[in-house]
Amino acid sequence: MEIKKRLSSILESPSNHIDEKLLKICQLLDQEYSYFNWTGFYFRNGDKEELVLGPYVGAATDHTVIPFGKGICGQVAVSNETFVVPDVWEQDNYLACSLDTKAEIVVPIIKDGKNIGQIDIDSHTHNPFTAEDRKMLEWLCEEIAKIM
Ligand code: SME
Repeated sequence: MEIKKRLSSILESPSNHIDEKLLKICQLLDQEYSYFNWTGFYFRNGDKEELVLGPYVGAATDHTVIPFGKGICGQVAVSNETFVVPDVWEQDNYLACSLDTKAEIVVPIIKDGKNIGQIDIDSHTHNPFTAEDRKMLEWLCEEIAKIM
C-alpha cells in the first residue's frame, strides 16, 4: 500500500490515543525509509518558548527540551518553515544527538496558524532527503494538525 494511505489509516484509527498514533507513525517511517535513522516529534510546551520531546524511534537523546531558536528544531519553531539540512556539520546552530547523524529534516506542524510542533528526522546518510520526502512529510504534518 502507498505510504500516505498507511499513514492515514494510523491517523484515522479511532482506538488509539494521539501519542500512540504518533509513535506508530514514527515506527512506520523508520521501517519504510532505510535512511530515516531517528524519527520523532517535538511539541511546544504550552505558552513557553521551548519544545518538548514527544514520541520517537531511535537512540535516546539528551535534547528532551529545546529552547526556541536553538538547533535546527528551535529554528523551525520560529521560522514556521521546513528546514532541510543535507550536512549537519556545516551548520553552526545545530544540536548534535548522535555522531552518526549526517543530515536532518524538520517540518513544522501548523494548527490554526500556530506552530505547535514538528517532525524531526535524522539520517546517517549525507544529503538523503528528496523533494518527494519533503512533500510527503509536509502532507503528513498537515494531516497531524487536523487531529491535534
Ligand atoms: N539535531 C536537532 C536536535 C534534536 S535531535 O536531532 C533528536 C537540532 O539541531 O535541533
